[in-house]
Amino acid sequence: METYLNLLFSSINCTFAASKYTMDYAENILGTIGNTPMVKINKIIGDIPALVLAKYETFNPGNSVKDRMAVKMIEDAEADGRLKPGGTIIEGTSGNTGMGLALAAIVKGYKMVCVISDKQSKEKVDILRAVGSEVVVCPTDVAPEDPRSYYSVSKRLAEETPNSWYVNQYDNPSNAKAHYESTGPEIWKQTDGKVTHFVVGVGTGGTISGVGKYLKEQNPNVKIWGIDTYGSVFKKYHETGIFDENEIYPYITEGIGEDILPKNVDFSIIDGFTKVTDKDAAIYTQKLAKMEGFFLGNSAGAAIKGLLQLKEHFTKDDVVVVLFHDHGSRYVGKMYNDEWMREQGFVEEEA
Ligand SMILES: Cc1ncc(COP(=O)(O)O)c(C=O)c1O
Repeated sequence: METYLNLLFSSINCTFAASKYTMDYAENILGTIGNTPMVKINKIIGDIPALVLAKYETFNPGNSVKDRMAVKMIEDAEADGRLKPGGTIIEGTSGNTGMGLALAAIVKGYKMVCVISDKQSKEKVDILRAVGSEVVVCPTDVAPEDPRSYYSVSKRLAEETPNSWYVNQYDNPSNAKAHYESTGPEIWKQTDGKVTHFVVGVGTGGTISGVGKYLKEQNPNVKIWGIDTYGSVFKKYHETGIFDENEIYPYITEGIGEDILPKNVDFSIIDGFTKVTDKDAAIYTQKLAKMEGFFLGNSAGAAIKGLLQLKEHFTKDDVVVVLFHDHGSRYVGKMYNDEWMREQGFVEEEA
């Protein structure tokens, strides 16, 4: 009798123990996008008195912030019929948007073609192929209107491929909208509304424009700073309204700067730009890994160096958020390769 009661009680306990938990899983890999951590930056910021926080986007399943906008662009295109069942998604991408699109294409049953420029790291091309994307590589050093440029090739492929959809992340409003709906609100919540400055690299402009618009709607005093690179038109255009072709020349930094004005860059919400050299961006990519344990991509190095260039803007009461776009694994043959760094002349001078 005693044994029977023991058994009964232990089985009741088991039932109670099991019911303490609810099943917790994503329906598919796309359900894990977003809600990325915020991490305090400690050493690399030197004597900046403000609290400086990294919005750490490599925790997305495609290892970059671009997963957010990739899924949003696809969902919006499905909703209004631009993308139809079994269709082919075509995009000119420096790799990260392609990765996000490729993951969504797998889950949703689309074909994916990425058109990429030849200055992008080999790892990015290999990674896109690993997730089932066809990759077309185009020369970097040609004008955007040149038929060989990756802008022109992606447009042409979209015209020639039946049942295809050209994403155009540069001018597609769903890009910035994704960050307005997810990245911006996350930053506001994670800082308890105390964020005073947002610093971020600018390429298509989706991240800065979406996050910037959301944060300024919550508090118009939040300052929005864009990180640009030498060889790009953004800073001069923002300051003078002049699109100066003399500003355009090839550069090494990946992910940021442009030789066009994408519709996703909302210059009206940006308070200022600072430009970072290729050398500084590469050296600071390494420094982030060595000083903070942040194994990140090249635009993160540019972003943190740009933030240091802006240090006189930050006081001890400020909460500065810098967004880091992508993961270091895509740059092991470049910014994390000492031989490559030496070949480029990216060697820090001894004090
Ligand atoms: C590594 C990296 N950093 C920064 C950016 C710029 O972000 P956005 O296009 O939202 O301006 C990109 C965009 O392609 C990127 O891939």
